[in-house]
Amino acid sequence: MTGRRWTLRGAHTEYTVTVPAHGRWLELVAWGPHGVSDGPSPVAYDGPVPFLTPGDAAPVEYATDADRPFTGADLVVETANGQRRVGFTHTGVRADADGRELAVDFADPVTGLRATVHYRVPAGTDVVQRWVELTNDGTGPLRVVRAGSAGFCVPTPHGALLSHQWGQWAQEFQLSHIELGHGTFTIGSSQGVPGHLHVPWLAVRDAADPAGAAWGMALAWTGSWEISAERDTGGLTRVRAGRHLVDGPLELAAGDRLTLPVVTGAYSPDGLHGLARVWHTHQRLLAGDRLTPRPVLYNSWEATYFAVEAQSQLALARVAAELGVETFVVDDGWFVGRGDDTAGLGDWTPDPAKFPAGFDAFIADVRALGLNFGLWVEPECVNPTSALYAEHPDWVYSVDGRPLTQVRNQYLLDLGRPEVAEFVHSTVDGLLHRYDIDYLKWDFNRPRTEPGRPGGVGPLDLDGAHVANLHRIYERLRHDHPGVLVEACAGGGARTDLAMAARADVFWPSDNTGPLDRLAIQYGFLHANAPHLLSSWVTDSPGLFDPRPRTLAFRFVLAMAGVLGIGADIRAWSPAERAEAAGWIARYKEIRDVVTTGEVHLIGGPDQARCAVQYTSPDERRVVVLAWHTGRLDGAGLLPSRPVRLPLRGLDPTARYRDGERHYSGSHLAAVGLPVQWSPTHDADLIVLHRD
Ligand code: DGJ
Repeated sequence: MTGRRWTLRGAHTEYTVTVPAHGRWLELVAWGPHGVSDGPSPVAYDGPVPFLTPGDAAPVEYATDADRPFTGADLVVETANGQRRVGFTHTGVRADADGRELAVDFADPVTGLRATVHYRVPAGTDVVQRWVELTNDGTGPLRVVRAGSAGFCVPTPHGALLSHQWGQWAQEFQLSHIELGHGTFTIGSSQGVPGHLHVPWLAVRDAADPAGAAWGMALAWTGSWEISAERDTGGLTRVRAGRHLVDGPLELAAGDRLTLPVVTGAYSPDGLHGLARVWHTHQRLLAGDRLTPRPVLYNSWEATYFAVEAQSQLALARVAAELGVETFVVDDGWFVGRGDDTAGLGDWTPDPAKFPAGFDAFIADVRALGLNFGLWVEPECVNPTSALYAEHPDWVYSVDGRPLTQVRNQYLLDLGRPEVAEFVHSTVDGLLHRYDIDYLKWDFNRPRTEPGRPGGVGPLDLDGAHVANLHRIYERLRHDHPGVLVEACAGGGARTDLAMAARADVFWPSDNTGPLDRLAIQYGFLHANAPHLLSSWVTDSPGLFDPRPRTLAFRFVLAMAGVLGIGADIRAWSPAERAEAAGWIARYKEIRDVVTTGEVHLIGGPDQARCAVQYTSPDERRVVVLAWHTGRLDGAGLLPSRPVRLPLRGLDPTARYRDGERHYSGSHLAAVGLPVQWSPTHDADLIVLHRD
């Protein structure tokens, strides 16, 4: 039974694992392009292990503290009397014939704990989804102290180059690279959401070959999480990823089963940009038949903030319709008591003072303009002054005898409680049934601070219960209202992970829409997420956060990199601005299928003279290039005067590509690049090349 190996096969990659003859764990043999397993393993270790144990040095796929007592375990379990060191023996395996699914079973003879290590390669991708199922087959209760989902082993003989994304509110998805000499690099969240501070995504490359092979890991978990990378003295970088147990150990009673979240690994031979394409392919498959060009939307937030009322919204909607907008979204401020952010959350009834003719009539007026209708909600939160809180003060997370923490003047509902989940579901479901709604923006504006519920009943996995019910509600709403698109938002991009990418249609990545700040945010976002998930608005200039001036064209081309929206006060736009906007929206409608399904090449970056995104249509007949001038707009910023050249990728060198009267060979576009000439009034471009 032991000493066997299994190979999982992706579109271009393979992932081979083995159970060594001793049968105590599963090891990686190789992870890379097809054929990579045919040769000596790049990660095997068969040297001496003085002062360590063999498992500390081996490329173990899923390690307990018995296997890796010193260099980092994925799973730590203890018995009721506090004894640890669960150690496994291989007991079985199930592998499908085409190398897409593998489940390897282990059991601990002392405690009766069973673990199944799962692998799945979705068809047509180069990702491997990994998760673990734990079953307590013993007679006594167990406590899971550390609940990692997987360990990934990456050969980095010349040093490990790690890429990660950090941030804060209004500055999400900042891409950084560090060289990990020795020691551990850790990122995570203890906020009950993926958070603004770090993205549950990591990329690893060998320092000697940054343009070459890249391995990535990303979590499908919408709660607290951790990812760490450690490079050992032998040149192996091991990445651990999984839940961060902020509520303490997980109880596993006799007979209980626990499924840990999926963590997905990705491989590309083409560096970080190739890795981005692997993630895009995966997320497009997660979207399934919902991968359709998103409507151009208008969102009221920056134009009216909380001062939402029928007349001003209709004035905005009239202009939006003229411009070619397709969906009109009323953001925060539409429900009773919501004059500002101190009140209203919890009482989800349209405010009759703001909609005197009724909300139905208002929606009908919006629809009569030819627009679909969208609505903002934040159903997991409650203001202390709301009727909901007066009725159910026990529904919020709290610790007996301790003061409650307000963030943005609000508390958080304990979604893990069945009655709260029922309230949240029926609130949203009720709105969708009651009103003619096509689009929902689901917001979440505070992290969880209190690790408890009234009465102190515990220990409880509050994080796990909240996430599980959130996912269930999203799934149920999608099932019952398949025509409604859902935008996931958490004060910007704090709820962005692969589990949400499978359940929401689009993400709001940041509240910062200032042009140059936004460029950096979107550039980071697109490294980990596909364009159909990137909601972006054209807002007024100067921007709220980033006042650096850029043209209206720049702001449009920027928002066209994903799902185009407008968030400006368009009532104040001049006829010339409106005409220009209408032109951009019309052009977006012509190219959005390519943005949604095209192969993405990131060119340069927001801190480089060259900054563009190329989208090549699946049939390779159209190439859309969006380019932005990142430098100064005054005279000094324009030297030298030769055009910037954007090297395009993935084109047929022998084919000819046409942009109006201009013709280029594929070879020229790759070797010399597509020329763009910037000036103070021409700081962005949309170029569509047609293959002859
Ligand atoms: C935070 C979101 O990110 C904004 O877009 C907006 O919806 C506000 N919340 C509303 O309160």
